[in-house]
Amino acid sequence: MKSDNKPSVCVVGLGYIGLPTAAVIARAGCKVLGLDVSQKVVDTINRGEIHIEEVDLDGLVHGVVSRGLLSASTEVAPADVFVIAVPTPFDKNHAPDISYVLAAGKTIAPVLKHGDVVILESTSPVGTTEQLRDMIAGMRPDLKVPGLTSEIPDISIAYCPERVLPGRILEELTNNDRSIGGITPRCARKALAFYKRFVRGECVTTDARSAEMTKLVENAYRDVNIAFANELSIVSDKMGLDVWEVIRLANRHPRVNILSPGPGVGGHCIAVDPWFIVHGAPEETPLIRTARGVNDGKMHHVVAKAEALVEAHPDAKVACLGLAFKANIDDFRESPARFVASRLARKFGERIHIVEPYAAELPIEFTDTGAVQIDIDDALETCEIMIVLVDHDVFRVVPLAERADKLVYDTRGIWPDQPRVVREEEARLKLVV
Ligand SMILES: NC(=O)c1ccc[n+]([C@@H]2O[C@H](COP(=O)([O-])OP(=O)(O)OC[C@H]3O[C@@H](n4cnc5c(N)ncnc54)[C@H](O)[C@@H]3O)[C@@H](O)[C@H]2O)c1
Repeated sequence: MKSDNKPSVCVVGLGYIGLPTAAVIARAGCKVLGLDVSQKVVDTINRGEIHIEEVDLDGLVHGVVSRGLLSASTEVAPADVFVIAVPTPFDKNHAPDISYVLAAGKTIAPVLKHGDVVILESTSPVGTTEQLRDMIAGMRPDLKVPGLTSEIPDISIAYCPERVLPGRILEELTNNDRSIGGITPRCARKALAFYKRFVRGECVTTDARSAEMTKLVENAYRDVNIAFANELSIVSDKMGLDVWEVIRLANRHPRVNILSPGPGVGGHCIAVDPWFIVHGAPEETPLIRTARGVNDGKMHHVVAKAEALVEAHPDAKVACLGLAFKANIDDFRESPARFVASRLARKFGERIHIVEPYAAELPIEFTDTGAVQIDIDDALETCEIMIVLVDHDVFRVVPLAERADKLVYDTRGIWPDQPRVVREEEARLKLVV
């Protein structure tokens, strides 16, 4: 460690989590090297620019790069602390893929030295931190690694998950509480000392496996509760009820807090992480598995309802509002809105108009469908049908006067004052989906 007592840090993976983390650590005065396999990402950051959309991140990155506190590279270099924030997707059978984590471990292993701290932040199935440790131990037999030596280990290894909300990442990175799980209690204490440098929230230490499970449980909890709301919305459609009204009333109960239904559940966290638990304990997770099925099924329900509405009005132009997986962000991964809109584009072609202020262009699956991208003002001027798929603020603020005569299918409940045209349409068409 340097004489000024500020550790040098290497952040591996400079995406939605890694780049803000690297920038916040650099702001705390540590010299940070960001490591990424993408030359484009590295070049962008070294110019003081960013490749992802996140509130206030551009100014922060520009500032720390120009002060020489953050630089990026595709080549690893020695550091005191390594923070790994690479992707952890699942495969087509929903089995977790930790190959990126192991690849990151393989990259840093050769430069590890006595006293270093390795922290995994990627959302990971239980046992991944130990697998990372085992891999490092295999590559570096000269180092005493925690849990595999009876002596004081040369390095510390810990797991510390991220629970930030896109759109508020910089604020939440510093203010959220953190669970820090060490391979040993000593590892947890070393990682704790590091996080204390830039985290104002409470940092609670535990073991690595508990910290891994905690992250998965948080997202499975959200998924299960959203599934309840989505199931209620499907039931309400069948019974001719307004689900928003039902939920609003039920939530007046002092101990009831039903979440909001939507077109499904997206993103790379809530729609992915519950599978890591199911994969680890398939027989013991009927509820978590069913919730995933309900939330995925909601997308198909929305497609069927939207198709029926569009088919019933063959001359109407259709605006699909939003492609992102949630409000006010440019993240389209696992997005139910994107799924629904692309299905409609494939079926109805040029009748479909996509409004997505956070996309510079339409994703690849819209190519050759005939669907076009327009802005919200053009949509309000030219489209008779509006299908609300994302609750971006720019949609939420459209006043009733500008949409009162539209046929609206609002999957997010952002326009509670909208005349209930779609429900009447459904009754007329005897739609039961
Ligand atoms: N985005 C979120 O809101 C969020 C929230 C909590 C947790 N997480 C978790 O954080 C982890 C990272 O997610 P993200 O959204 O930042 O991913 P991302 O795809 O935005 O970024 C990952 C980056 O890692 C780079 N990379 C891949 N393999 C690499 C390697 N071997 N060495 C160096 N760089 C490599 C990629 O080029 C990419 O730039 C995942 O496990 C995710 O589940 C994400």
